[in-house]
Amino acid sequence: MPITAKPTLINQFPQGHDRRIDQARKRITMNDTQEIAKNQSESSQTEQLEDSSANLENRTATRVLSVTSGKGGVGKTAVVANMGYCLARSGKKVLIFDADLGLANIDVVFGLTPQYNLNHFFSGEKDLESVMVEGPHGIKIMPAGSGVQSFIQLDSHQKIRLLEALDSLDHEFDFVLIDTEAGISENVTYFNTAAQQILVVTTPDPTAITDAYALMKLLSIKYHEKHFNLIVNMVQNEDEALDVYRKLSMVSHRYLDISIDFFGSIPFDNQMKDAIRKQQVISDFDGGSKISETFSELAGRVVALSSPVSPKGTIQFFWKRLLGLRKTEE
Ligand SMILES: Nc1ncnc2c1ncn2[C@@H]1O[C@H](COP(=O)(O)OP(=O)(O)OP(=O)(O)O)[C@@H](O)[C@H]1O
Ligand SMILES: [Mg+2]
Repeated sequence: MPITAKPTLINQFPQGHDRRIDQARKRITMNDTQEIAKNQSESSQTEQLEDSSANLENRTATRVLSVTSGKGGVGKTAVVANMGYCLARSGKKVLIFDADLGLANIDVVFGLTPQYNLNHFFSGEKDLESVMVEGPHGIKIMPAGSGVQSFIQLDSHQKIRLLEALDSLDHEFDFVLIDTEAGISENVTYFNTAAQQILVVTTPDPTAITDAYALMKLLSIKYHEKHFNLIVNMVQNEDEALDVYRKLSMVSHRYLDISIDFFGSIPFDNQMKDAIRKQQVISDFDGGSKISETFSELAGRVVALSSPVSPKGTIQFFWKRLLGLRKTEE
């Protein structure tokens, strides 16, 4: 039977969002032009970069997932910290890349106080090993801090240094989880396009849904990202989450050439406040709760995500994409 009714969600995406996307697009396009001009004068250095990265080729495949959102405060950090915790508890080697400049960061959630961030590495003060901190079950955390901004503007010399430093790290990771900022800034799109899988977090709040749509729209139109996994956080029940999923996939199917998988939902739980106060992830609480079971299941789904078969399939490729190399292979 043909569907004649107009999707109700369309009315919930006001014009202002398209304007925001257009503004972001203009900004990004300008930056791209400058980047291209800069790259032309650096082509020989690019060859050097390829050489420096060659040693990274032989490592095991690592899954790189970004956890992102259009609106802030929807639970990205909670998802990254708890899924990372569950993965590490089950014996996986996990690196959390904290690409959020905000205040309530991964280190706070784990009760850690990193002394350094990537800026200390870029300035030459510290090696990469000293920048990383270790959380429970051996999780490694890379506090990018204000160094995140530098990523976008690294010169060739710094890129070579970073690739060499990554090569000399002892750790081989099964999973890299990137905790991004909220929104559609260049920072956000930068890390999302470097990841193999993008997990978009929203809540049932209409503005969070609208902003999730705006982010996926930008990533698909400007960066040709065509596949997203949706997590609906802070729900009263599964039906509420599925309703959000249905709305988003319906409008995306109609207006964007993308596919969205329902990755899962997370119940609203007041204990999350205690977790923040105790600086301990809720999955680390004794006695188990529905929400900690949920995070375990989500971690299981991360493991079950099909192994990457594309060139995005190794951590080396992740770093290279992040550093602006090999983009033509996609
Ligand atoms: N399922 C949940 N139930 C109750 N509270 C939650 C839940 N998930 C997250 N929270 C709480 O919501 C707040 C925001 O979560 P969090 O910091 O993880 O969001 P975020 O998306 O990372 O925010 P930002 O965009 O600022 O980085 C925190 O106080 C967190 O404890
Ligand atoms: Mg956060």
